[in-house]
Amino acid sequence: MAKKTFFASSVAAGGKTCTRVLLGFALIFILIAVYLIVHFMRDKPVDYADPIEHFKYGSVGSEHEFGIPYWLWKVLPELFADKLPGKGYASLGFVFEDGHDLPVGMSKRRYRGFDVVWLNCAFCHTGTVRDTPDAKPRVIVGMPANTFDFHAFTRFFMSVGMDPRFTPQRVLLEMDRIGAKLSWMDRALMRYYIIYFARERMLSLKGRLAFLDQQPPWGPGRVDTFNPLKAYFNFPMDKLPARELIGTADFPSIWNLRQREGMQLHWDGNNTSLEERNKSAALGAGVTPPTIDRVRIKRIEDWLLDSKPPAYPYPIDQQLAAAGKPIYMEYCASCHGVDGQNFSGEYVGKVEPIEKIGTDRHRLDSYTLAVNANQNTLYAGYPWRFKNFRKTFGYANMPLDGLWLRAPYLHNGSVPTLRDLLEPSAQRPKTFYRGNDLYDPKHMGFISDVPAENGRNYFRFDTTVAGNSNRGHEGARYGTGLSIQQKNALVEYLKTF
Ligand code: HEC
Ligand code: HEC
Repeated sequence: MAKKTFFASSVAAGGKTCTRVLLGFALIFILIAVYLIVHFMRDKPVDYADPIEHFKYGSVGSEHEFGIPYWLWKVLPELFADKLPGKGYASLGFVFEDGHDLPVGMSKRRYRGFDVVWLNCAFCHTGTVRDTPDAKPRVIVGMPANTFDFHAFTRFFMSVGMDPRFTPQRVLLEMDRIGAKLSWMDRALMRYYIIYFARERMLSLKGRLAFLDQQPPWGPGRVDTFNPLKAYFNFPMDKLPARELIGTADFPSIWNLRQREGMQLHWDGNNTSLEERNKSAALGAGVTPPTIDRVRIKRIEDWLLDSKPPAYPYPIDQQLAAAGKPIYMEYCASCHGVDGQNFSGEYVGKVEPIEKIGTDRHRLDSYTLAVNANQNTLYAGYPWRFKNFRKTFGYANMPLDGLWLRAPYLHNGSVPTLRDLLEPSAQRPKTFYRGNDLYDPKHMGFISDVPAENGRNYFRFDTTVAGNSNRGHEGARYGTGLSIQQKNALVEYLKTF
């Protein structure tokens, strides 16, 4: 009996311990599960209260699809320095500001357990200006990213994916060398998963964007707008007619958007809806319909509506400018608006037929009815599904606000300065250099005859290459027949825009 009691009580005690142990395990398990859920499910970008900081460094949601871990981003230019034209990402024309270790145009988000980074609107829509060769570049939001070479950047990424040094061992060693702070879990994930995954993504991107190898290099400040979209839609790129395979366009400025609502815009005027132009642009930054961060894009859209270009900062000869005004009103205003603030004009925001404007037609032809039909399926099922894209047959007459910052000119950026644009194409520079941000107030544009400076090579732009023609926008109507005095006066007046 005593034995039995002893036995029974010890079983009871054992049962209690067992339950406690089990409960303990369950608790630890739950805690780990909660930790892992919180750790891996968190989806939160770094936010900025100031709208300009948000534009430059805030998220549009592109990290979901394309983001790469922060430390991987940091390590690539170290491990693959030989694949860059100079030192670090700055040699690709990325702009770095004091107090920021990511370039303008790059956002950071905590996603799936990592700090991941990728691009936003500013890397194509923020540029720099230097007043003198030794001056610090001034960062100007909304102007074209005049120094950034997107083509070279894409090619850098694709070639990294192909490189035999892109292994977990090498990458982690290099991360340690540059002082990366990785928890044991991050390190294990990098070692066994992330780096292989990233390599696979880079290689698949290389496959998808193979057509880039067939295109002439874009150089800084330009991108092919619609061919990457065709690749995204799985068009058979190798079977497309040659004439639609080059669509390189200059980055435009994006100020005063409220006044542009309803105008036919994009270079070829293919969309009248501002909201759709913004959403379509977000695709260019790498968001996809399910991953777009609408709340944060909306903040950008709202701020952009009334954002203004900075006034021309160098001296203006007021008398000469006053002489230029009537010339502008007579020749240019009906297509480009009354001035830099008032955009009214009979033809503003309408498309000028290609036969009349006569500029390079590659960008126009690259946007086809087939792209148009596919685009209209984007965001299908959402209230903001695209419905305003149209195939057009020319280039749009656009307002000229902030014109001083928009060089090189025309949709393909083929004319380095405004003064050159007022010459017939035969007299415009046949080759020049892009990527310099040093300003040339005399001709209104950036210095374009210097091949290299401070170890950075500028891009030699050749107007005989397909897609780069500097023809068109010439003849009596476009002011190329004016006298030298009249042209100089017109340039002076356009500094007030
Ligand atoms: C990859 C570079 C790139 C990125 C990123 C980018 N854009 Fe653009 N954007 C362009 C180019 C190039 C055009 C001109 C397209 C064309 O007509 O070929 C353009 C055109 C526009 C236009 C129309 C301008 C006009 O008046 O015709 C707006 C508005 C615009 N972008 C806003 C944005 C916003 C907002 C974002 C971020 C959500 C963004 N863009 C991201 C390159 C970019
Ligand atoms: C019949 C309409 C029309 C007239 C008149 C006209 N333009 Fe244009 N302009 C255009 C079109 C269309 C484009 C875009 C062409 C392209 O990029 O292929 C353009 C482009 C420009 C650009 C380039 C803008 C940029 O951001 O790159 C400038 C600068 C310009 N025009 C100035 C002038 C001046 C100055 C006059 C008067 C002497 C003038 N235009 C007369 C239709 C016109």
